[in-house]
Amino acid sequence: MLALGFVAGLNAGPTSAAEKSTVTEGGVTLHSVSTKFPDPGRLFPGGSSADAINNNCLACHSIGMVLTQPKMSRAAWQAEVIKMRTTYKAPVAEADVPAIVDYLANLSVGK
Ligand code: HEC
Repeated sequence: MLALGFVAGLNAGPTSAAEKSTVTEGGVTLHSVSTKFPDPGRLFPGGSSADAINNNCLACHSIGMVLTQPKMSRAAWQAEVIKMRTTYKAPVAEADVPAIVDYLANLSVGK
């Protein structure tokens, strides 16, 4: 479908593709839609104390997956990070694990 859109856009000439909300070409009608994606730029707050978690924990899911968890003990967060590494094969450097667990344990303090 993407390739079709490209071809239809070219055939419609230089002005019309961007201005029209629909383009019809060769029996195919393409409609422009506007979609809002979740903000991909969101990082864990906390400045440099969040560096380790920001560098290691955002490849597969957003901060929401982590910040919406209930209050957990340090041991539970440790187990969670280990689970990410072993079960889900998260490429987290061994050396970064303590800083990540520290960050997560402190997160639970205020809850
Ligand atoms: C390789 C991909 C990957 C990386 C990197 C990753 N995770 Fe996950 N994470 C997952 C998957 C898959 C789930 C389960 C998603 C689901 O249940 O829908 C998950 C779920 C979670 C959950 C929700 C509770 C649970 O166990 O399902 C937490 C909390 C979490 N991850 C924390 C982290 C932290 C902290 C890091 C960094 C150390 C991290 N993740 C890095 C893949 C990853």
